Amino acid sequence: MKNLYRPIESVIEDIKPETPNITTYRFRPKEPVTFAAGQFVELTVPGVGEAPFTPSSNPNVKDTLEITIMRVGTVTAALEKMKVGDTVGLRGPYGKGYNMEDFYGKEVLIMGGGVGLAPLRSLILALFDEIDKFKKISIRYGARTPEDIVYRDLLPEWEKMKNTEVLLTIDEPHPEWSGTVGVVTVLLDGLPLLTTVDVEDLPFHAESAVACVCGPPIMLKFVNMTLLEKGFKPENIYHSMERNMSCGLGKCGHCMMGEYYICKDGPVMTAAQIAKFEDPF
Ligand SMILES: Cc1cc2nc3c(=O)[nH]c(=O)nc-3n(C[C@H](O)[C@H](O)[C@H](O)COP(=O)(O)OP(=O)(O)OC[C@H]3O[C@@H](n4cnc5c(N)ncnc54)[C@H](O)[C@@H]3O)c2cc1C
Ligand code: FES
Repeated sequence: MKNLYRPIESVIEDIKPETPNITTYRFRPKEPVTFAAGQFVELTVPGVGEAPFTPSSNPNVKDTLEITIMRVGTVTAALEKMKVGDTVGLRGPYGKGYNMEDFYGKEVLIMGGGVGLAPLRSLILALFDEIDKFKKISIRYGARTPEDIVYRDLLPEWEKMKNTEVLLTIDEPHPEWSGTVGVVTVLLDGLPLLTTVDVEDLPFHAESAVACVCGPPIMLKFVNMTLLEKGFKPENIYHSMERNMSCGLGKCGHCMMGEYYICKDGPVMTAAQIAKFEDPF
């Protein structure tokens, strides 16, 4: 039987800086670590500790796996000191990701903030693999400043995909930025406060479209509110929930929210599932 706690040795094959504090790592596990978009893995830096991350690569690529990681503390700082050829441990995948079949025939809105575009990249790449099955893919992403934008080289490629649009915003005016300015909900407004490009009102059939959201808790809160106001159904709004996690397997209780274990029942959860909690984010 597979031991879900056992980390699989994984060699760092590539390191790509995205922003001053965010880096994408490509790992080659010694045994395949397959996952669905939205599921997470626990990454161990030997002698330091482990932390949960959602892969950012295409789930249909089975022999390697990428994770985009923001440096915040012990594990992420130790990882930043590692080099190509060094080894980490990966265990998982854990939790529930997105069920792509639920999105077939629909308009898909992707809303990301900061490093939150990382888990969504895995979903975006999986959507692109079946692009004819979706009516439209709209990727809307906000970063603090232009230099905090992740996947800068990929965004223009994504925009060229069939039935796909990419809208960006940064939090405050910046001399190198001529695009939309304002926090990410501005991309849902139709009336951005400060903008040099026109953003049309949400051209979605809100009653049937799905939205997948990932970013800092404050962003999730306001995007959730706005999408509900725009007429999105709570069961069609998917949030990536982040909680302190330990086992990742529904055993230790670190990640509990009401009756839910975020590691097992999430991390992808719908607005309908979390509606009864006063402050779910
Ligand atoms: C399901 C899941 C998926 C995740 N996916 C990703 C991912 O794809 N990419 C990614 O970069 N991160 C992701 N995270 C967050 C990541 O797990 C944490 O950033 C990581 O645990 C930090 O470990 P550390 O040892 O470096 O920091 P620690 O030493 O544990 O923390 C140091 C300090 O940073 C603070 N801190 C911890 N996490 C964060 C955070 N996310 N933002 C701001 N401050 C923080 C702590 O409160 C503490 O004060 C995910 C978390 C979960 C639960
Ligand atoms: S992390 Fe242990 S129960 Fe969820």
